[in-house]
Amino acid sequence: MKNIVVLTGAGISAESGVPTFRDSDGLWCNYHVEDVATHEAWERNPQLVNDFYNQRRKQLYEVEPNAAHYALVKLEDCYNVTVVTQNIDDLHERAGSKNIIHLHGELKKVRSTKDPDLIYDLDGWELKYGTKCELGSILRPHIVFFNEAVPNMEPAMRATEKADIIIVIGTSLQVYPAASLLYYAPPDLKKYLVDPKAEVQYPVTHLTILREKATLGVPQVVETLLNDAK
Ligand code: APR
Repeated sequence: MKNIVVLTGAGISAESGVPTFRDSDGLWCNYHVEDVATHEAWERNPQLVNDFYNQRRKQLYEVEPNAAHYALVKLEDCYNVTVVTQNIDDLHERAGSKNIIHLHGELKKVRSTKDPDLIYDLDGWELKYGTKCELGSILRPHIVFFNEAVPNMEPAMRATEKADIIIVIGTSLQVYPAASLLYYAPPDLKKYLVDPKAEVQYPVTHLTILREKATLGVPQVVETLLNDAK
């Protein structure tokens, strides 16, 4: 079976009702990143940061995967699929994708501030600020804040090096190191980009762009790849 890496961003969850970041109605139009999503923000005002992620986690219980998430699952019949997502929602999991790498963390998980390997599934949407881990330190959202390391980039790069095809869906490709998966992918790799406002900053070989919403473009790409696999 051929290997496919799918790099997704906020755009794949937009039609599920999850706001993106940099669109005109995106999160970063209503919040200052430096107040709620950086390592310094957590150090300076952890309760504000904790509340910001509580609100986003609460909203996650009101949304469902969409046709784009489900279409990707169909690829698993004929390909080894690794979903590398920048998203912290669990919509890929709920759609049924089996092999998912979260680059920027997971909204439904929290972790110890003493030992980052102590990660817990959060029961419900609210992490009450001050709740402690088994070591007695405060729990924090299991999210990669800006200016923090992206530990899952290593497995994501390894998967991309072994890929035969990469599909990029719904990301502005503004944030590194995630965006480098497209730009440093092997030149002979077949690449697809699905985004209504798709634009690439650097030349990319063997690239097919579908300037479509994810729920239209992703099923088209999946149908093409399933036909190719016959
Ligand atoms: N279908 C497909 N793509 C869409 C749709 C849609 N229905 N709606 C919007 N998009 C596209 C936009 O055109 C844009 O290119 O999704 C992209 C969203 O870009 P961003 O808001 O920048 O989101 P993303 O690229 O995921 O941001 C990366 O930045 O703030 C950090 O940690 C955060 O993981 C996030 C990272």
